[in-house]
Amino acid sequence: MSVSSSHPAASRNLKIGIVGLGPFAQFLSKTMIRQGHILRAASRTDYSNLCAQMGISFFRNVDELLEAENDVILICTSILSLSEVLQSLPLHRLKRPTLFVDVLSVKEHPRNVLLQVLPEESDVLCTHPMFGSDSGKDGWKDLNFMYERVRIRDEDTCSSFLQIFESEGCRMLEMSCEEHDKMAARSQFITHVIGRTLSEMEIQSTSIDTKGFETLVHLKENTVRLSFDLFSGLFLRNRFAQQELENIELAFNKVKQKLVEKMNEEQNLNNSTLR
Ligand SMILES: NC(=O)c1ccc[n+]([C@@H]2O[C@H](COP(=O)([O-])OP(=O)(O)OC[C@H]3O[C@@H](n4cnc5c(N)ncnc54)[C@H](OP(=O)(O)O)[C@@H]3O)[C@@H](O)[C@H]2O)c1
Repeated sequence: MSVSSSHPAASRNLKIGIVGLGPFAQFLSKTMIRQGHILRAASRTDYSNLCAQMGISFFRNVDELLEAENDVILICTSILSLSEVLQSLPLHRLKRPTLFVDVLSVKEHPRNVLLQVLPEESDVLCTHPMFGSDSGKDGWKDLNFMYERVRIRDEDTCSSFLQIFESEGCRMLEMSCEEHDKMAARSQFITHVIGRTLSEMEIQSTSIDTKGFETLVHLKENTVRLSFDLFSGLFLRNRFAQQELENIELAFNKVKQKLVEKMNEEQNLNNSTLR
């Protein structure tokens, strides 16, 4: 892994075609528009009204999006729909070699599918902005942005795209998709499992909350706000996640066992003093 702070090429305004204009793409779009990039989008849902308000050209038909002269095609669909969405893209409509970028929260899966589906002349940049509308609501400064330059020939376009995040002050982390998935299974995935578990327990703020408990309530609220597709994608499309789920269960049982042992010890002591 390497942390970089500057890219040599000067940035330029990009024409970015977004595939999948769900909550995360909408969140990213606001900053890209503010920076002066030109956005177009196509999505399963009709976002014409929202796009008219935001200043994004919306295409009901993805053919038209791919035919437009885009510098970048930004894939923002759910993890689970990625294969289906990519395989249904009319890639023969592309007018010129284009940089494909994805922002999925798992990385080996999109890397493999993009390499399998895209024409050889398309460049591929796999990224994971490791923040969302809650953690990034006051700006992106010092927030982690992971990327792997999977197949890059057009350095200028790639650098200009990375500049979107770098210029907002993100911590730019270049690493392999495999490295990302290993670490994310042991960090982000665990966070989501704990958040979802707390939600199943229906935890609520009380009048005597400790700071620690406030953190748990916040965690619960932030994880359940995200779609279940996203959560299950973190599990189903990251080959390291299953082991981590088992580790959580083993660890929970160990903690429980320690408490039960202590309880038994105390009971035995009480019984022997009574005798
Ligand atoms: N939310 C975050 O904080 C965050 C942070 C980093 C990365 N990401 C990544 O960003 C991507 C989008 O996340 P999200 O939070 O917006 O929610 P999501 O539920 O993961 O994805 C929603 C997007 O997927 C599209 N979609 C879902 N099922 C589809 C299907 N069967 N066919 C076609 N399109 C389908 C939706 O299209 P329509 O809206 O048109 O129905 C929408 O654009 C995910 O890959 C996620 O891992 C999210």
